[in-house]
Amino acid sequence: MLKIAIIQFKPILGAVADNIQAIRSLLERVPDAQLLVLPELASTGYNFRDKDHAYSLAEEPADSAYLNMLNTYARRNEQYIVTGFNEKAEKGIYNSSALTGPEGMIGIYRKMHLFMHEKEYFLPGDSELKVYDTAYGKIGMQICFDYLFPEPWRILAEQDAHLIVHPSNLLTQNATKALPGIALMNRVYIATANRIGTEGNLTFNGGSMIIDPSGNVLKKASAANEEIIEYDLDISLSTDKMITPLNHVFKDRRAEQYK
Ligand code: ACM
Repeated sequence: MLKIAIIQFKPILGAVADNIQAIRSLLERVPDAQLLVLPELASTGYNFRDKDHAYSLAEEPADSAYLNMLNTYARRNEQYIVTGFNEKAEKGIYNSSALTGPEGMIGIYRKMHLFMHEKEYFLPGDSELKVYDTAYGKIGMQICFDYLFPEPWRILAEQDAHLIVHPSNLLTQNATKALPGIALMNRVYIATANRIGTEGNLTFNGGSMIIDPSGNVLKKASAANEEIIEYDLDISLSTDKMITPLNHVFKDRRAEQYK
């Protein structure tokens, strides 16, 4: 079993120290969770004024006060923590997700499919699609609008991901429609951590979800409240790729006919 907790909250645009403090208080509420998932760009907020504003709030992972704080909790409580963050790199900034654990920083994924004005601020992600081993199972990462593009989810599931975590700043119900199907088609757990609140002309719609490999929504948060949703996942379910006793969701593909 994997004890997962999704933290849905309201980051404040540009108020990094306040956001870190808010996240710290939320982490204090779930010391027993084995995996915690936070939203996209959780420490900075989302709706940047322009490219310079976004850049001014970016951090290099090795020097990030935010990621260091998360790692302190990960070590202290033997937890794995996934969060979206604004990553500064040599060539520019990326809308990224980090997985940290008791052993330190485990992996970073850079969002591939940039939404709307993100294209003006961030470089498109260039990460290898990779599943990370943890003490509780194999974890893949995708970020928000990546939900619209089925290939990376399939590639992570083919790498035997038990769970794909999905830090988000969702604005529409499209992910709510797409993600149960993605979970079902790949027989994999999905955990979407969305945010709430309004930044300028954007209102984020909460509804963070834990979805099982049959496409069932096991838990869903409210649309507008700060909330932590928790569930004990039987991750062995995502190793069973049979959708009927005679149908395997990967082996039954007809790749030679897909022309
Ligand atoms: C989104 O990708 N943040 C909608």
